Amino acid sequence: MVPSTAHHRQGLPGIVCPVEHTVVLIPGDGIGPEVAQAAVLVVEASGAQVNWLPRQAGLAAIEAGESQVLPEATLEAIRTHQVALKGPCTTPVGEGFTSVNVALRKHLGLFGAVRPVRTMPGVTTRYSDAQVDLVIVRENTEGLYAGIENQISEGVVTSLKVVTESASRRIARFAFEYAHSRQRRKVTVLHKANIMKMGDGLFLQCAREEAKAWEGKVEFESRIIDAGCMQLVQSPQAFDVLLCENLYGDVMSDLCAGFVGGLGVTPGANFGDEGRAVFEAVHGSAPDIAGQDRANPLALIMSAVMLLRHLAETTQDVTCTTCADRIRDAYNACLLAGETTADLGGSLGTMAFADAICKRLS
Ligand code: NAI
Repeated sequence: MVPSTAHHRQGLPGIVCPVEHTVVLIPGDGIGPEVAQAAVLVVEASGAQVNWLPRQAGLAAIEAGESQVLPEATLEAIRTHQVALKGPCTTPVGEGFTSVNVALRKHLGLFGAVRPVRTMPGVTTRYSDAQVDLVIVRENTEGLYAGIENQISEGVVTSLKVVTESASRRIARFAFEYAHSRQRRKVTVLHKANIMKMGDGLFLQCAREEAKAWEGKVEFESRIIDAGCMQLVQSPQAFDVLLCENLYGDVMSDLCAGFVGGLGVTPGANFGDEGRAVFEAVHGSAPDIAGQDRANPLALIMSAVMLLRHLAETTQDVTCTTCADRIRDAYNACLLAGETTADLGGSLGTMAFADAICKRLS
């Protein structure tokens, strides 16, 4: 993939970016390279000055001759430059190598995932009347994703769920800080502490203790996750920020994507302690449509918009905010005009959708 063209590098009139930002670009595999190319095109056309540093991960890394699915050079580039835009990476089901995505988050200490889910203009769903505006905050480093599985005897396997007080406190604090900084009104923790009294019990206790520090600023409530799911599908607008441990956060992300048009419109970001942030869509590598120019690039483009807003916050470069707003306005205009990929009812291919967004940048 060629990350930039001279044409798009020039950006829009009226934008003079004072800084060039280096962003590690991990295309991933499956539909990853297609949607990454589309996202790069749109970011560059917006006028944002991004110096893309391509690095490999997943099956693409092996195909490129690397010996590991998560090469050290990829991790090192993110440690150095702090920010990355990442396409999805395939994880074989029931066999083969362990998840590159989980490993990347663990290696880089990317403990908190933020996944906004909002009703999109012009996208009709069963929930079109509901004005959904949720944010899932997912603990990224432990729970069942610790990957500690053992065969105890023939036909008997255990999977260990790891819950630590430090990681639970850290994600609870992160959720409240995020909610407060974004003028969100409420954090709801989802748990199953009635059954996993110790593990989920500890997660819940840490959330409750953190909530005390935010009394009068951010509301707090807890829901047993099964009842919470029922309430969520009945009335998604009753929820605001959902605080979840790792597996629940993964499941809730896809469930909530269904409210607003599916995985093509749900972006995400993974944040770490030392200012590191990796932006990636909620969706996976979608092998069923890979290489067919059918993938919706919008979720990764929206993730790139989150990245630009993050750069604006961390570097005080206000032009990043301008570029982010321009991209958002342009994709909203496309959605309203029905210029989309098939998953949203349109007829455009991946790059044609990206081109349509570029044309509407103003
Ligand atoms: P998936 O998200 O790749 O696909 C689920 C369904 O949604 C498929 O029918 C797919 O065609 C559709 N879909 C997904 N993204 C789309 C897009 N941008 N535009 C249009 N349709 C889209 O989930 P699945 O099938 O469970 O996983 C496939 C692979 O992706 C697995 O190996 C999984 O481990 C990996 N994965 C990687 C993630 C990451 O890199 N962060 C996240 C989730 C899954």
